[in-house]
Amino acid sequence: MENKMKNILISEQEIKDKIKTLGAVISKDYEGKKLYVLSLLRGSFIFTADLVRCIEVPTKIGFMTTSSYGNNEDSTGTVKLLYDVPDNIEGYDVLIVDDIVDTGITMNFIKDHVEKLGANSVKCCSLLDKPDRRTVDIAPDYCCFQIPDLFVVGYGLNYGDYYRNIPYIFNFKE
Ligand code: IMP
Ligand code: MG
Repeated sequence: MENKMKNILISEQEIKDKIKTLGAVISKDYEGKKLYVLSLLRGSFIFTADLVRCIEVPTKIGFMTTSSYGNNEDSTGTVKLLYDVPDNIEGYDVLIVDDIVDTGITMNFIKDHVEKLGANSVKCCSLLDKPDRRTVDIAPDYCCFQIPDLFVVGYGLNYGDYYRNIPYIFNFKE
């Protein structure tokens, strides 16, 4: 794994620029609302930290944890709640933030879950979107980059529990 060559797909600067633009859009859309950013751990911690600093309306922030791919590149197709929403979100305008929407199973599940908790509105935001892999009918309301069907790493996304700290998005050269 350590000897694999990296192929940079999205640079630090590109990520920074897109997040700034997205933060401005979200700030406008959520003016006068009760924004609650719900960040899905662990993949979205870096994206969330950068995004919320570009949001200019009052924002509550909470984290929840769902089961992930573990060390495999393929989804198990089931979502397990490991750590639930830590606040009463009744009446809040919840923005779910994740690193990537792949099959869409995770985002779909969390969206349903949050709606049942009495949120006033629920929207989805992801850094990346891999539409070719979708198996359920969901699309992020806000997204920074659409990417082809590649397994990507960095900027919060992991492979075998590593690489989340790499500040750009890359894939491994074969
Ligand atoms: P979904 O439920 O299939 O949409 O998958 C969502 C989760 O799978 C994401 O939050 C990621 O943690 C993980 N995932 C999906 N694609 C990738 C990838 O290309 N690299 C790293 N993790 C991924
Ligand atoms: Mg994830």
